[in-house]
Amino acid sequence: KRHLISAADLTRDDALLVLDTAEEMARVADRPIKKLPTLRGRTVVNLFFEDSTRTRISFEAAAKRLSADVINFSAKGSSVSKGESLKDTALTLEAMGADAVVVRHHSSGAPQRLATSGWINSSVVNAGDGTHEHPTQALLDAFTMRRHLSGVGRDLAGRRITIVGDVLHSRVARSNVLLLTTLGAEVTLVAPPTLLPIGVEQWSCQVSYDLDAVLAKSDAVMMLRVQRERMNAAFFPTEREYSRRYGLDGLRMAALPEHAIVMHPGPMNRGMEITAEVADSPRCTAVEQVANGVSTRMAVLYLLLGGSEPAIATARTEDA
Ligand code: CP
Repeated sequence: KRHLISAADLTRDDALLVLDTAEEMARVADRPIKKLPTLRGRTVVNLFFEDSTRTRISFEAAAKRLSADVINFSAKGSSVSKGESLKDTALTLEAMGADAVVVRHHSSGAPQRLATSGWINSSVVNAGDGTHEHPTQALLDAFTMRRHLSGVGRDLAGRRITIVGDVLHSRVARSNVLLLTTLGAEVTLVAPPTLLPIGVEQWSCQVSYDLDAVLAKSDAVMMLRVQRERMNAAFFPTEREYSRRYGLDGLRMAALPEHAIVMHPGPMNRGMEITAEVADSPRCTAVEQVANGVSTRMAVLYLLLGGSEPAIATARTEDA
């Protein structure tokens, strides 16, 4: 495959290949020198039209650990503010010899447009487009779940994953539902009716409005950020009402099975969808998810750009 635009692009075998490759990459991160020469001479452009902390930094770290050259482009402070189009920005990157373009954009569909436009020859990786998809977040989430719930090398068959909150605006939720069901998990969405997208009944998951009813049956509960910046105030219950019905606090966390984990893609609204007590508890994998994001994005870049050979076996490591 040349591009990664949607979690739906991945078959079960594709997804397992990414996760298994990410496990190999994670072993590199444990070494004193965390670098492979695999993508030496290749150029990865991080093209961010929307703010990011985790995704941008982890793609940069991933590309550098594979020895690629990295160009970071942020729309803020660029000629986009003078009205330059996506096409002309893309042509500029092409002229600089980009091999992969990692794009985050406020418009759903922008990465697809880049990949299919013919403007660039590079591989395109969707790093989050509007309210549509965030496939590498779903991959790093699946990597984290697999480590905790089913074991390395396995899929997530029969694992019960509950995704809670602002599903309407969440590209993370959409990509997770697609990928988790491909990997055999049973997904339940819990949200107020006003924060569920039209057509959610067509998604391959259950829907509930009662968080307390599903907690005891969950192997992982993934809390979503309430995206106030994308929201019409009329659609939103009061903060207190939202937290009371859909927030995860210590009492609710205690209702989870002992082995269950609490996940959050970040950034978190502490005090809204998750209390500080839960966010800082050992059961919350939010920080671990960030670390896993580097290994997972190394795997994605390697598989898109590096070829079909096993990354570690064929690469001469820098510290060898
Ligand atoms: N989870 C995530 O996409 O975070 P950032 O917006 O900080 O990249």
